[in-house]
Amino acid sequence: MAGREWWREGVIYQVYPRSFRDSDGDGNGDLSGVIDRLDYLQWLGVDAIWLNPITVSPNADMGYDVADYCGVQPTFGDLDTVDDLIAEAGKRDIKIVLDIVPNHSSDRHPWFIDSRSSRSSRHRDWYVWADPKTDGSPPNNWLSVFGGPAWTLDQASGQYYLHNFLPEQPDLNWWNPAVRDAFDEIYRFWFDRGVAGFRIDVAHGIVKDRELRDNPVATDDDPPDVRAHGQRTVYNMERPEVHDVLRRWRALANSYDPSRILLGETYVLDVRTMGRFYGTGDELHLAFNFTFIHAPFEARALAEVVAESELVIPDVGWPVWTASNHDVSRVMTRWAKGDERKHRSALLSLLTLRGTPVLYYGDEIGMPDTPLGKGDRQDPLGQRHWPESRGRDPERTPMPWSNEPGAGFTAPGVRPWLPIGDATARNVADQRRDPSSTLTFVRDLIAVRRQRPDLRNGSYQQLPSPPGAWAWQRGRGTTVALNLSDQPLRVPGVAGTVVISTERSSRNGERVDGGLSLGPWEGAICSSGST
Ligand code: NOJ
Repeated sequence: MAGREWWREGVIYQVYPRSFRDSDGDGNGDLSGVIDRLDYLQWLGVDAIWLNPITVSPNADMGYDVADYCGVQPTFGDLDTVDDLIAEAGKRDIKIVLDIVPNHSSDRHPWFIDSRSSRSSRHRDWYVWADPKTDGSPPNNWLSVFGGPAWTLDQASGQYYLHNFLPEQPDLNWWNPAVRDAFDEIYRFWFDRGVAGFRIDVAHGIVKDRELRDNPVATDDDPPDVRAHGQRTVYNMERPEVHDVLRRWRALANSYDPSRILLGETYVLDVRTMGRFYGTGDELHLAFNFTFIHAPFEARALAEVVAESELVIPDVGWPVWTASNHDVSRVMTRWAKGDERKHRSALLSLLTLRGTPVLYYGDEIGMPDTPLGKGDRQDPLGQRHWPESRGRDPERTPMPWSNEPGAGFTAPGVRPWLPIGDATARNVADQRRDPSSTLTFVRDLIAVRRQRPDLRNGSYQQLPSPPGAWAWQRGRGTTVALNLSDQPLRVPGVAGTVVISTERSSRNGERVDGGLSLGPWEGAICSSGST
């Protein structure tokens, strides 16, 4: 992808470092383990790896509570290991994207330790502090995403501090210019080391209402998530001023050659709001589309989200498609309900829509969520809300590389940080040998995407199709059709040659004229020209 904008045409692969490969036998994945598996990722055909946080953290929220933004968590390695990773990945034409957490730090970060030490400390105003109401209650009604009030009283100084997540994750005060300057330095520190960009945690939410106004209480007209939360997060998230910060970061990213990329976690309620985070090509390069992730796996629903996304993402922006990550149930479990056919069709859509696909480690072998017991819990959500919430551990379990003891993830006999799922049922080694496996399918699909400019950057146009089907044309010569139903059906008007189908058997090269017949849950790409 040299010379082209790799982040538009390439495939990004998300690695949860603790679960990818344990190189030193302590039960935790690490950066040397990622280096060990670069050959595999090159073979698979991905262009970049996004790593969940690797920075120093007491792990109240598994790395999303940062105590040193420029230091590496010792379990994962050190700065030299990061340099090696960047260099070794570079040799294989793979870029490294890190995760940055600017909304909040850890309560053990030296900034916060100083901030809470007294009302007049140097860093007091680096966080959001406010006086109690006259009855001693929190300054306003804001609620934490993880449950309970978003404020904790610091007895010693008599003020509350804000935390939109855990009390161990105090929110930084983005109205303070010193905070903005400090993060510019952090970006530069990593960009100068050769990091290709950042996935930005809570990219939509870092600036808070300056007057700390109460959020409106949810009503019956609000979507279920809002009703469950009890309020609309209009004052503690998504403030208009967040766009100033994103523009500042984009200018910083663009000052590098090649430009570094900003991939934002834009966890907003609707596609229109998500579209605003592209600005006029001067904010995020890529904004995650959570409306797509949370849509039901139905032809009509998905087609609608994509149609709206195509409308609201400005010409200067570029969509990004993902269906699994470390916060949501895996696509094999959530959309596919364990059905290989559905899983392959889901991945076919991610890799052929107009935009950048982000695969979550294990998607390529159809890895499902791993059922876990109460005693396995590591995620604070599971700790706090069990059994109502199982937490996010089931989608974070170790990658099964083989069917040996330790699953090729860790040494035999070592207890991994989370249990390994059923490595007998699916693992990389077995699927690599099997031409009819999901892994082979995904690798072939990525190769088809690389070969066809239509799939990398051609336009998207939805095609008429019967109920249960979703079909679209990319560019001038490529048609993609999915049958998301239990019945065989025929998508009319398709002519050409089948390039790849989720049914691996014998369809490649099949001539199609006047319509494409698809079995239940089958998907296929058809070529009608040379692109
Ligand atoms: C989003 C991250 O993806 C999630 O894992 C984390 O708990 C919250 N942000 C808070 O940082």
